[in-house]
Amino acid sequence: MLQVIKEMLCRLLGKGAVKGLGDVGRVRKMKWSPPPPDGKVRLNLGCGDKILEGYVNVDFAESRKGNRPDVIADLRALKFDREYADEILSVHVIEHFYPWEAEDLLNHWRDILKPGGSLVLECPNILTAAAMLLKEPERAARAVGKDGQMAMWPLYGDPAWKDPLMCHRWGYTPTTLVDLLMRCGFRNVRQERAMFKQQDPRDMRVVGEK
Ligand SMILES: C[S@@+](CC[C@H](N)C(=O)[O-])C[C@H]1O[C@@H](n2cnc3c(N)ncnc32)[C@H](O)[C@@H]1O
Repeated sequence: MLQVIKEMLCRLLGKGAVKGLGDVGRVRKMKWSPPPPDGKVRLNLGCGDKILEGYVNVDFAESRKGNRPDVIADLRALKFDREYADEILSVHVIEHFYPWEAEDLLNHWRDILKPGGSLVLECPNILTAAAMLLKEPERAARAVGKDGQMAMWPLYGDPAWKDPLMCHRWGYTPTTLVDLLMRCGFRNVRQERAMFKQQDPRDMRVVGEK
């Protein structure tokens, strides 16, 4: 399966563009289980250090915590064919783009999805961050430990990375994220339970179909 994906990517992007597929065997233990390989093409866009088995993992960063993506690329200019993927998963990534980029970005990703393919986004819910800040402003604004994770990180990103790619450029509520997907032509857009990082209501998950 991996060999097939590697050959397809080499053909698509040229040999030098496909990095690290040989390393996928060393998949880090995740707190969620990867889906079984079933011939479906799944993309994990903005994978960071979360290299998922059964997915083509894509990120701009060559490595995070020693984990390398399968494809190093800017998510705004992916070279996958139109109607290539069955699923696009993107966890804590949409908030890393300016609002004026987000619509083009999702339209670009929609082109890559097959008809009927699904888009799964998870990201912080800024309603929760705002509520935390209002509840205990000084404490929540210190951005350290658990308080930081609940208020400042959802708004601005985790400063410990010291990396602009890890900073947030916009924030969403469930309603505004659903609206964005609908504007980009996704159907059956709905909120589901967040499952990859923090639970609802700190995080949220919005899903749509092409
Ligand atoms: C907060 S991390 C999320 C990583 C992972 N999905 C997770 O759940 O832990 C955001 C990721 O998006 C990547 N990223 C941000 N802007 C990007 C861009 N323009 N192209 C590719 N990757 C980008 C960053 O390098 C980073 O690894």
